[in-house]
Amino acid sequence: MAKQKPVSSKGWITGAVLTVVVFLVGAATFGWYRTEVVESGTGLLSTPVATIGGDFSLVDTGNRPFTNKDLLGKPYAMFFGFTYCPDVCPTTLWDASQWLEELGADADKLNFVYVSVDPERDTPEQMKSYLSAFNPRIIGLTGPRAEVDRIIAGYRVYAKRIELDGGDYTMDHTATVYLMDAKGYFAGTIAYQEKPENAVLKLRRLIGVAD
Ligand code: NI
Repeated sequence: MAKQKPVSSKGWITGAVLTVVVFLVGAATFGWYRTEVVESGTGLLSTPVATIGGDFSLVDTGNRPFTNKDLLGKPYAMFFGFTYCPDVCPTTLWDASQWLEELGADADKLNFVYVSVDPERDTPEQMKSYLSAFNPRIIGLTGPRAEVDRIIAGYRVYAKRIELDGGDYTMDHTATVYLMDAKGYFAGTIAYQEKPENAVLKLRRLIGVAD
């Protein structure tokens, strides 16, 4: 990578922070890091960034329009997967159900969103049926492939269709939970199978009920 002369110290710091964020998300995506590496301080970014996230226009499990604007005003956690997922999704959605239970009434201060990366199979009805096994607070979103691709790109999610024998397929996908602030800015992550007490503490910090 070419060295760039910093134009100002502020610009340099912003660049450095973005580099770290991009690295952490990349590392989270591919599971390169151990949890301890990102959990300095509160485990959340001191300054959330707008470079991860962005606009989307999907539908909820009742086939009602649901956009990024519906999430503004409250922090949210967002997780990407598909209902035919054999392990990562059920594990994470089960964990998330426990975190939300643990938050008690404070769970009202947060939205938890599950976005399908497999909209061809994950109709709103399928999402509704699948999510009925988990905490009812979890919001399921799906939609046209082009819109799903837009949110995947915006959140820098890895999602790849893998063909199986017999014409079936599965999806390989990012296992990280994204933590977003009330403005829709990226604030941190919860790793796959992170310790429950760490995960809940990060959520409490995200909603401002813990230091
Ligand atoms: Ni999955």
